[in-house]
Amino acid sequence: MTVPAATHPRLDELTARARDVMARAYAPYSRFRVGAALLTDGGDVFTGCNVENAAYPSGICAERGAVAAAVAQGRRDFALLVLATEADAPAPPCGMCRQVLVEFAPSLPVVSVTADGRAHAWSMAELLPRPFLPDSLAGV
Ligand code: THU
Repeated sequence: MTVPAATHPRLDELTARARDVMARAYAPYSRFRVGAALLTDGGDVFTGCNVENAAYPSGICAERGAVAAAVAQGRRDFALLVLATEADAPAPPCGMCRQVLVEFAPSLPVVSVTADGRAHAWSMAELLPRPFLPDSLAGV
């Protein structure tokens, strides 16, 4: 079942989880801390924070950390993603994270929150309108 993201009954809880994990981000280079909380249809929550590296491209985003944590536990049924940052405006997921998320959840609702409580909700279809999906590989 898809519930509108802005009114999701677990939005406050997911927001708190995203903020908690954001505090554990390792972002000494960009100073841009990100926390992600990913709810599954089964009700479990998986979290991730960005982990940067002195070799800059080796860093990983919060969203992909959360996806990896969920998939490693056998969960791919994503129902809602909440992001927390300290940016002035709600920050959408980066392009690489959109691509990783769409593989599992083409209609995923995504909510991003700021430290002072502003929020914006998007659907994955809005964020990535013409996705490259597993069936895009067909016929090769
Ligand atoms: N970052 C994320 O964790 N998620 C995004 O969707 C956007 C960017 C991280 C990567 C890097 O550690 C920092 O934010 C600045 O780009």
